[in-house]
Amino acid sequence: MTVDFTPSTALSAAPTPAELPAAIDALRRKKNAVILAHYYQEPEVQDIADFIGDSLELSRKAANTDADVIVFCGVHFMAETAKILSPQKTVLLPDLEAGCSLADDCPADAFAAFRAEHPDHFVVSYINCSAAVKAQSDLICTSSNAVDLVRQLPADRPILFAPDRNLGRWVQDQSGRELTLWPGRCIVHETFSEEALLKLQLKHPDAEVIAHPECIQPLLDLADFIGSTSKLLNYAETSNSNTFIVLTEPGIIHQMQRRLPHKEFLDVPGTDGCSCNACPYMRLNTLEKLWHCLSTGAPAIEMDETMRQRALKPIEAMLAMSR
Ligand code: 13P
Ligand code: SF4
Repeated sequence: MTVDFTPSTALSAAPTPAELPAAIDALRRKKNAVILAHYYQEPEVQDIADFIGDSLELSRKAANTDADVIVFCGVHFMAETAKILSPQKTVLLPDLEAGCSLADDCPADAFAAFRAEHPDHFVVSYINCSAAVKAQSDLICTSSNAVDLVRQLPADRPILFAPDRNLGRWVQDQSGRELTLWPGRCIVHETFSEEALLKLQLKHPDAEVIAHPECIQPLLDLADFIGSTSKLLNYAETSNSNTFIVLTEPGIIHQMQRRLPHKEFLDVPGTDGCSCNACPYMRLNTLEKLWHCLSTGAPAIEMDETMRQRALKPIEAMLAMSR
């Protein structure tokens, strides 16, 4: 269905900050839009979303929604995945500059050359990559299903894993499969300070350390539990501990505190005490930009149809193989 974003249907004047939530809600109903948000979004963006989840859950939602418009409050590869799965829908990303260092670390032409050096390898790509890299992959995974999917692959087939070297190493350890790794990294998860973590552990000896697998090995070695954002949240819910040191982007602490107000969640600063543990891409989306994209229908994700069809296959394979 074509959604009407002509100026007559847009609000004439931008709402004030106080009016934004109601104005976004009115537009969401008018355009039959669904707002999907990742846990690393600003708290006020999470609070207005219809659904909050990790990459796998958000992909499933994007594939199954009957809304005409998907507003993806996350980063570009997430909105792109939604467009690949739902090409007939309008997919909006509040800020088109919301990229990802992992996707940037793996340019499609360099990746093609890497694949050509390993022609017999089965190619597993983490969902944090561009559509052009997905289109060159046999299977997509997320941090939530990567270990399970790799375990399902034929034992005699060599595997190439891209683009996150830290996730790849962890999957290798957990699955017992040897992986040829592309050397990409997340600028956020490689920034946590080991020294700050050790100090927090000394101060809170009963705290459990919960970590995202994009963290570097020395930090993962100190973790009591490792998993995707949703799995970290679920673990905090079911664990008997009352204090958690959270080794992932601190946006998720908003959801942890909402669901578990009686528990304590501590974030870990970056090296030199910087606040670079916040993803600079995820945080580009704001309520104002969310209102603006719903009002104007831009920026919208567009994609070449041949590329979309190629990228769809490994995503569908992932959804079929995920439990
Ligand atoms: P999740 O799939 O665990 O939500 O992770 C997405 C991401 O970008 C982590 O940095
Ligand atoms: Fe990409 Fe890292 Fe930001 Fe996740 S936290 S979107 S992997 S840059």
